[in-house]
Amino acid sequence: MAALQEMFNVRGRSVIVTGGASGIGRAYAEVMADNGARVCIFDRDAGNLDVVVKELQRDGADVWGQALDVSDRAGMAAAFDAVAERHGRIDVVFANAGIDAGPGFLSTTGERIPEGAIDVLDDDHWDRVIEVNLTSVYTTVKHAARHMKATGGGRIIVTSSIAAQINEAIVGTPYMPAKAGVDHFVRQMAMELGAFGILINCISPGPFMTNIAGGRLKIPADRKAFEAQSLIGRIGDTEDIKGLALYLASPCSSYVTGSQIVIDGGAMHRIA
Ligand SMILES: NC(=O)c1ccc[n+]([C@@H]2O[C@H](COP(=O)([O-])OP(=O)(O)OC[C@H]3O[C@@H](n4cnc5c(N)ncnc54)[C@H](O)[C@@H]3O)[C@@H](O)[C@H]2O)c1
Repeated sequence: MAALQEMFNVRGRSVIVTGGASGIGRAYAEVMADNGARVCIFDRDAGNLDVVVKELQRDGADVWGQALDVSDRAGMAAAFDAVAERHGRIDVVFANAGIDAGPGFLSTTGERIPEGAIDVLDDDHWDRVIEVNLTSVYTTVKHAARHMKATGGGRIIVTSSIAAQINEAIVGTPYMPAKAGVDHFVRQMAMELGAFGILINCISPGPFMTNIAGGRLKIPADRKAFEAQSLIGRIGDTEDIKGLALYLASPCSSYVTGSQIVIDGGAMHRIA
């Protein structure tokens, strides 16, 4: 029987985390670095990226960053190549960067929100949410596959959301179709890439306390509404997501691909 350390071993693995300068992505970067992986964080927020990289390096971890927007296709190709050049290969990629989609059509107390209505939705806003939350996942997976095929396999972990599987009136409308597209894209990629030893899965969080939507979940009324969805009475802490990230990046999950693994304190059962 494999020892626990072997089952979860990511030591020396070459890892990329997009959107790793905050929230869930930061937790992914941290758990990989803490367990001996070499980590490169991609994030558009250069200031925060610098701070987080320095914090993670403090314990001697091999962590560095590249400041870029995941919707910059040429920039992404070059950034992946730079990681392969420095680490020699790319083993694990977290396609995590994402944005919120503004207000939904209802407030947390059930009133209609005029600017969240479909008939006045800003077309550029729709395009940007789809661009960052769906098209950039395609770009990330494309370059991950390009490098992993050359070295005989790897792991791709995409941050989706329970919003891919349910509808939420208090979340901006473009968010749901973007994440639903992500889920289906991941299943399609699992079918295509399995033969190359590349496993791809979604982590599908419910509400987590991060900086998304300007830290909306820190506002008491919103926090209460999201806490009420959870079956265990609280919003997720980014520490809660580390075990699942390590599981999907390590030998432990060697027979798992094309899955959407929900991590939501049971919220989906309450909402659905
Ligand atoms: N927090 C939640 O409740 C929750 C729930 C379900 C899914 N998610 C998903 O988790 C992922 C991470 O979100 P989070 O909650 O940690 O948010 P966050 O805002 O705390 O962190 C997101 C990070 O991504 C970066 N980023 C955003 N757009 C980018 C771009 N175009 N290019 C490069 N970097 C970019 C930001 O600078 C930030 O550092 C997102 O895909 C989000 O949709 C979050």
